Amino acid sequence: KRRIGILTSGGDCPGLNATIRGAAKACYSMFGEDNVEIVGISNGFHGLIHNNCRIMKPEDFSGILTQGGTILGTKRTPYKMMQVIEADNIDKVAEMKATYKQQKLDCILTLGGNGTHKTANLLSEEGLNIIGLPKTIDNDIWGTDVTFGFHTAVDIATEVVDRIHTTATSHRRIMVIEIMGNKAGWLTLYSGIAGGADIILIPEIPYDIDKVIDACEKRAQSGKTFSIIAVAEGAMDITEAAMKKKERAKKRAEAGETTVTNRIAKQIEAATGFESRTVVPGHILRGGSPSAYDRVLATKFGARAAMLIKQEKYGYTVAKIGSKISENKLSDVTMKTKFVPENDELVITGKSIGVSFGD
Ligand code: F6P
Repeated sequence: KRRIGILTSGGDCPGLNATIRGAAKACYSMFGEDNVEIVGISNGFHGLIHNNCRIMKPEDFSGILTQGGTILGTKRTPYKMMQVIEADNIDKVAEMKATYKQQKLDCILTLGGNGTHKTANLLSEEGLNIIGLPKTIDNDIWGTDVTFGFHTAVDIATEVVDRIHTTATSHRRIMVIEIMGNKAGWLTLYSGIAGGADIILIPEIPYDIDKVIDACEKRAQSGKTFSIIAVAEGAMDITEAAMKKKERAKKRAEAGETTVTNRIAKQIEAATGFESRTVVPGHILRGGSPSAYDRVLATKFGARAAMLIKQEKYGYTVAKIGSKISENKLSDVTMKTKFVPENDELVITGKSIGVSFGD
């Protein structure tokens, strides 16, 4: 019997269960239910380190297509700690290899984002058979046009921007909405454009607060009494761009500005007198059922992973490139982040319709 391990690691997102289901169902039909055993590894690499595994049954994968979160549980197990033994006195790489052996696994499917891919590549280099599946609402995994979870989060964030419009217009306020995305601004860019935000601020394009204030004032002068600003969690102004993340956070804390949205709202209100509010949807963007797009993508990704198992093509991660499902070598995608390029088509489109990026 082929034994296939499966784990979900890092922050959860819609589409994890749909991907697990796609992979499991494709394996069962490809190899036959009697010839394959799927081993669920709990809470990501933590479960692999501690041999926290269970044999799954075909019925475990029924009815989960529409469910948010992950039936396997997930945990952030930072890559940089994987090779540090002193922290907890555990040789984590050795333990993961031991679990793999003890569970008699033929391979492991690792569903996760950039951090997960780093550890997946490490295990692959250690000789384990690994196949990655690209998950994240941030859409920042190199080598794939899209990750599962992203479009659902775009839909949710767009609804937030939509709803903020009515309250912003009623009160004639500046509404500063913080959207997840610490390093990459894809989610803010897409939902900002889809929701009709007036100003979009992303980490890749450091903003000049004077230009942001100017954009709000220009709108007011033309009779628009409100402005919606979509801000990525990791956005920074031009004076902060050269700082390290910790230094930036320290400076903001000293100024009593806990988040970037907080900082922006305060600065706009002080400069213009326009009443400003902040909105932080936070983890709501990661919760709930995947969209139809993500269910389809997750199913395709899962089925592709099963195909790779059949071909014994390990050390790869599934990808969507153009309209085709494909794969990249794990070693090619790790240690890279897919950022929004300054000349991204959607940035250019936004600018062409008058959206300010604060630059
Ligand atoms: O990587 C996905 C993500 O949602 C980021 O956008 C965000 O910065 C981070 O996770 C939040 O992580 P946590 O759930 O651990 O607070």
